[in-house]
Amino acid sequence: MSIDYAINLFPKIKRGFLFLNLQEYYRQIENNELIINQFINNKTPSNVKIILKICLTLIFHSKKPHYALVNEAVEFSKKFKKGSLVNGVLREFLRKKDLIKDNEKNVPKLFKANCDKIYTSNKIRSYIYESFFTKPKSFQIALKDNENNFYRKRVAFLNDKLRVNYFVQDIGNFEIINSIKSLYGEKKILDVCAAPGGKSILLSSYGFKVEALDKSQNQIDKFLENIKRLKLDIKISKKDFLNSKISSKYNSILLDAPCSALGTFRRNPDVVNKIDEKKLIMNQDIQVKMVDKSLNLLNKGGILVYIVCSFHSFETMGVIDKILQKHKNITVEGIQSDKMIKKENGYFINPYSFKEYGGSDIFFVTALRKKK
Ligand SMILES: C[S@@+](CC[C@H](N)C(=O)[O-])C[C@H]1O[C@@H](n2cnc3c(N)ncnc32)[C@H](O)[C@@H]1O
Repeated sequence: MSIDYAINLFPKIKRGFLFLNLQEYYRQIENNELIINQFINNKTPSNVKIILKICLTLIFHSKKPHYALVNEAVEFSKKFKKGSLVNGVLREFLRKKDLIKDNEKNVPKLFKANCDKIYTSNKIRSYIYESFFTKPKSFQIALKDNENNFYRKRVAFLNDKLRVNYFVQDIGNFEIINSIKSLYGEKKILDVCAAPGGKSILLSSYGFKVEALDKSQNQIDKFLENIKRLKLDIKISKKDFLNSKISSKYNSILLDAPCSALGTFRRNPDVVNKIDEKKLIMNQDIQVKMVDKSLNLLNKGGILVYIVCSFHSFETMGVIDKILQKHKNITVEGIQSDKMIKKENGYFINPYSFKEYGGSDIFFVTALRKKK
């Protein structure tokens, strides 16, 4: 269950508070685990540990009085007969609270291990670890170049409201499309996982004629709102790409595949807690099938760009390895960008290169050409 989904189960009035606290819960999960472990033993049930960590998050980050938070946690724990345990731990914690450092920055271990596999530079790694604890900046992208914008004449901060003819997108996302657009030889393009439309809209703004499809009506509705607001000519169809017949062939295809979204850890810190090898293998299986099908729809000489907002090797280089083993008529194209790090078969966004703009999400991108 995503944070968004869980929060939408609650009345609107409570959602903002819940969202900020849930984000903080996941940002502090490793730190709070280390603190809690000083007060419990290894027999403490996992549901009690979760309640304790939620309560610690609120003690450190909300303005509610501590006694009220503890009372609420104790009352809730009585439902499964753990009220006195929770009461004891929280009271002892509050007695010693001033001796405990609450500014530690321990990054979850699996997140760190996977990040270290990709980024060998200590400077970049430290920046990524640090950014796990920092709320990201929001950006808006202009449909047309504008001298007043700070990055490549297109990117502005989203400090207050969205401007006319601008749409919301991460700066790393913008960099990816900006650097691959010239690889496409033809401006008619099929975007097979297109909604809510960030990349299709950007491509359309660069003169591409986008045919978009997606299987989720909910996501398509968001896309349609943007198309209407920005008055764009983009055709979007509701289709399951893997299970529908597409009879045309294309010279230009974009596949922004579904993934763990690990690269969006700053705005969705819960993704870090969901790193699960079995799930990642399932993701890879779907991603390989999607690349496979996209390559079958590609004309000789055509370009397929594969993107995921993840830095896990299974969803990135692992997918391309499998594809290159299977398809001998494919080459990996070079991508020109000083904001990405090159690996064997693709590129990762380097968030450190966006330091002056507050960092970026992490994406993997590779451009595959079908040989003539
Ligand atoms: C990473 S998001 C795409 C984001 C989009 N390209 C953008 O820039 O805004 C992945 C999308 O793939 C869609 N998707 C997942 N499986 C699909 C399938 N089998 N066929 C078509 N779309 C699919 C999801 O609904 C989701 O909207």
